[in-house]
Amino acid sequence: MKVKTIGVLTSGGDAPGMNAAVRAVVRTALDKGLQVKGILRGYNGLIDDEIVDLNIRSVSDIIHRGGTVLYTARSPRFREEEGMQIAIKTCQKHGIDGIVCIGGDGTFRGARDLSLHGIPCVGVPGTIDNDISSTEYSIGFDTAVNTCMEMVDRLRDTAQSHDRCTVVEVMGRGAGYLALHSGVACGATTVVVPEIKLDIKTDVIDKITMAQKTGKKHFIVVVAEGVGGVDKLAQQIQSVTGIDTRATVLGHVQRGGSPSVRDRVTASKMGYEAVQLLAQGIGNRVVAEKDGKIVDYDIYDALNMEKPFDEKLYKIANTINS
Ligand code: F6P
Repeated sequence: MKVKTIGVLTSGGDAPGMNAAVRAVVRTALDKGLQVKGILRGYNGLIDDEIVDLNIRSVSDIIHRGGTVLYTARSPRFREEEGMQIAIKTCQKHGIDGIVCIGGDGTFRGARDLSLHGIPCVGVPGTIDNDISSTEYSIGFDTAVNTCMEMVDRLRDTAQSHDRCTVVEVMGRGAGYLALHSGVACGATTVVVPEIKLDIKTDVIDKITMAQKTGKKHFIVVVAEGVGGVDKLAQQIQSVTGIDTRATVLGHVQRGGSPSVRDRVTASKMGYEAVQLLAQGIGNRVVAEKDGKIVDYDIYDALNMEKPFDEKLYKIANTINS
């Protein structure tokens, strides 16, 4: 199939580096002589006909910006056949022959369904959670984990000053990558993630008590949002140990900010590769990182992959953070 026009959209939670990926898609496509359309607000843009022409200057001055200039949304309407049919008509109206869909596994399921209905799509992984099954790395994770690190370092300053315990919840949906990496980077006494079943008494409170006996006076406990319950945990720690304890939920601050080098470079590489596929009329693929290299997989296969939790890093955290 001769591809003339490609669309690009961002869907699901925004992630720092999405703009760098959009920029790479637009510039690579223009370099190949293709036209590019921006689809606004994720798959909703295909249902509501929110399509804009993009040129070489449309993506100037965005490589360093967090969020997404294309806006984003989660689109329940797109999961219905009626929404899908409207989306296809919108593609036909604008002559869109293929779409780069930037987001997480939910975005990839949309890309798979659209490919199945005859519009070739290529997924690019973007989420701060780094929980996409097919890729070792997702755009946004590095920036978000550095934000977590900075925030937890600040909590450490005040916990240290008051001889307190600070219990902090970081994002990650059902996954513990943000918690594990920020916990290691900040020297948290304990990291609580959904992938590892812990006993609060022995694995959290006793660990604090043991560290207390060696002279430690302030403590950091990092909890993944997939486990949650930081207020209750803080109360438990305080009532058993007597250590003044505070709970903090970091929240959406983790999603914003200027993307790191890692995120800008990865986004540029992945956006470029996605267009190489679509330009050849190849769809129903996702771009991924494997052993530091950019690869691509069939979307069905990608969605059925399993991402192993980094148990070794978890063990290291438990060994050295005490
Ligand atoms: O997927 C990114 C993420 O920030 C998750 O970590 C979090 O669970 C979710 O999105 C929050 O979604 P929302 O922005 O819709 O509240």
